[in-house]
Amino acid sequence: MKGIKGVVLAGGLGTRLSPLTRVTNKHLLPIYKKPMVYYPIEKLVRAGIKDIMIVTGGPFAGDFLKLLGNGREFGLKDLHYTYQEGEGGIAEALGLTEHFLDGDRVCVILGDNIFSGDITAGLTGFMEQKSGAKIFLKEVADPQRFGVAQLDGEKVVGIEEKPKQPKSKYAVTGVYMYDSDVYSIVKTLRPSARGELEITDVNNAYVGRGTLTYEMLDGWWTDAGTFESLLRASQRVVETPAMHEVVAPKR
Ligand code: G1P
Repeated sequence: MKGIKGVVLAGGLGTRLSPLTRVTNKHLLPIYKKPMVYYPIEKLVRAGIKDIMIVTGGPFAGDFLKLLGNGREFGLKDLHYTYQEGEGGIAEALGLTEHFLDGDRVCVILGDNIFSGDITAGLTGFMEQKSGAKIFLKEVADPQRFGVAQLDGEKVVGIEEKPKQPKSKYAVTGVYMYDSDVYSIVKTLRPSARGELEITDVNNAYVGRGTLTYEMLDGWWTDAGTFESLLRASQRVVETPAMHEVVAPKR
């Protein structure tokens, strides 16, 4: 698709999964028959995005190149990579892709978000938007683990990152679409209490501008950054045959 590129964020040390992450990156761990990072790449490919950058970090970054190469398995001509030094957060990682986007819009997927739905329709809707951002929500039983959207009718009026008393059950999933202004917004951010530039602050900046739209993510959704959610991700994928084979566009 023209005018939009894809970014998969696959950095971090994955310390919550130690010792599984002692000798590899979290996003290279298996989810049923494929490494975790395959799933977000496949979502972008299926939505028609052909220009994709992987942001990784930590001591095992080189293994992404060994595993993915030029992305031929996904029918891509090549894949782009960049390296995040340190643990500066999701928004900082996104900031590193500015030169790659070169004025285009961006669809970002967190490398540990595994879901069955298709984002093609959401992407088309976003491209029809004059400017701004789109996020994808999912009703969950444990919203305090996530960014939580406060809704007023059809509008998101604010997002809170891991609130103790969530104002709704709608988790903000790790699928985000932004216009090219996102890079100037990232530059205004200050680190949160956990020392990271928060993607929630980026989304709230768009709420402030009145240009953030949302959709509900179809199907099931889970993160995979804890032992429980990593296991759950494999279980859900096993039950979803459409996700078993590698997605590559027909030539
Ligand atoms: C991050 C975001 C959070 C979002 C979640 C989705 O959380 O900060 O807003 O709901 O991803 O997986 P983290 O994985 O950094 O705890």
